[in-house]
Amino acid sequence: MRIAIVGGTGTFGRALAQRWLREDHEIVIGSRDRERAERQAAVIGAAGGTNAEAVQGADLVVLAVQSGAAVETARQLEREIGSTPVLCVASDLLVTRDGVYPGRNEGSIAEDIAAIVDGPVVSGFQALPAAQLALPKLLDEDVLVCGDHAETKALVLELGQALVSGRAVDAGPLANARALEGMTAVIVHVNRTYKIVAGLRLTGFE
Ligand SMILES: NC(=O)c1ccc[n+]([C@@H]2O[C@H](COP(=O)([O-])OP(=O)(O)OC[C@H]3O[C@@H](n4cnc5c(N)ncnc54)[C@H](OP(=O)(O)O)[C@@H]3O)[C@@H](O)[C@H]2O)c1
Repeated sequence: MRIAIVGGTGTFGRALAQRWLREDHEIVIGSRDRERAERQAAVIGAAGGTNAEAVQGADLVVLAVQSGAAVETARQLEREIGSTPVLCVASDLLVTRDGVYPGRNEGSIAEDIAAIVDGPVVSGFQALPAAQLALPKLLDEDVLVCGDHAETKALVLELGQALVSGRAVDAGPLANARALEGMTAVIVHVNRTYKIVAGLRLTGFE
């Protein structure tokens, strides 16, 4: 599968790229700066280009830019993305001295993006820590994915299963991105408070 990682020069996008390269996927790292993308892509054995170049011919576009730029980036790439499925990994967070809060009171970044692009949008992977993802060992946690398009969700669940030793869990419709994005505030807050790298595991499957 050809996967374009928009903002793949960042810590999370690069870690996803490394993982999926091991699964023999074709990865294109996108950046606002072609040279930066090419340089970073060469290190891990992927292709690189501008974000607009990266999404051309992709089977899946992963929007892995800084969360605050995700909606605007989707708007800028709307034409190039066309009807290609999109995975949104973003969370809107408000980090203060008192704690980490959800950055919005309604909706989600993923739903905003779904209102912009023509293709199906799924949301997920928010709880996977980039630092651990970059290591060869599978993450000891579940990966949650939500979306309204069954085929795209199944595809992304399969890609997610390659990242964790836990389960890739269908977390329901795209509106549940509100919960997945909000849960990131909880996880980041817990990490800061307990000085750990927390992950998510759902019980009750057995
Ligand atoms: N870090 C984690 O552990 C983690 C875990 C789960 C999900 N996520 C999500 O993954 C996404 C990326 O996280 P990250 O930690 O990798 O972020 P990051 O390193 O801060 O940023 C990723 C890339 O976004 C691009 N970018 C920054 N500002 C931009 C702007 N104004 N417009 C367009 N592109 C911009 C940059 O690429 P160029 O400068 O090369 O264009 C940068 O390399 C976020 O949505 C985050 O919530 C992160």
